[in-house]
Amino acid sequence: MSITKESELEGMKKVSEAVALTLKQMREYAKAGMSTKELDEFGGKILKAYGAKSAPYETYGFPGYTCISVNQEGAHGIPSNKKILKEGDLINIDVSAELGGFWSDNGGSFIVGTDINNHQALVDSSKEILQKAIYTIKGGVKIADIGYLIEKEAKKRGLKVIKNLAGHGVGRSLHEKPENILNHRVKSNRERFKKNTTVAIETFIATKSTVAVELDDGWTLVGNKGGFIAQHEHTILITDEQPIILTESNQIWN
Ligand code: CO
Ligand code: CO
Repeated sequence: MSITKESELEGMKKVSEAVALTLKQMREYAKAGMSTKELDEFGGKILKAYGAKSAPYETYGFPGYTCISVNQEGAHGIPSNKKILKEGDLINIDVSAELGGFWSDNGGSFIVGTDINNHQALVDSSKEILQKAIYTIKGGVKIADIGYLIEKEAKKRGLKVIKNLAGHGVGRSLHEKPENILNHRVKSNRERFKKNTTVAIETFIATKSTVAVELDDGWTLVGNKGGFIAQHEHTILITDEQPIILTESNQIWN
């Protein structure tokens, strides 16, 4: 959305703080032996305490308050009593919600306990690439150039990007224009980031796959060629200089 007055900025700050602190607390709460359902319900209660409504649950009919994707699952994983977290699992939590008519979105991948399966390099790459991308964005920068940067940085690290998942505009709804802030360059896309707009920037960095495909449950996305996917996401306000990271308190970069 385009921010035209102080009250809109305040609204975006408020909902962003709610989703960011929910994500942060869920990350701290996640432990081996816990089901993803238990983790989701913990997050759902925090959102509720902020007066925020889970976007996937309220708007998309998703069977959970947050998306929790484990190991091979790349995105939109369904919280379940049957999915028990194990030491060394790669997990992604994505939290998006509405509060007072404003929407915000954030997410992050991390490792449960000790990194016995060597996922840290993938996770660190995704974090670093998101950081580079975000600090390159300002009013007037081409969306395609950020896609190019993300893919180039992934390649440098021997990694790939998922081509059919993307960041997006956010604010008055969860997904709004610009709709496709891709992790690769589409040369024909001449669209530019605009000052004073809010967008969700997210990486989809993969070890083997380049396309996300949906499982029969109608939600869960996995890589077309297997391997693992890491995602990190912030909602930001674009300025003339460095963006303001509205979901900064999720601490996904720490
Ligand atoms: Co998200
Ligand atoms: Co998003």
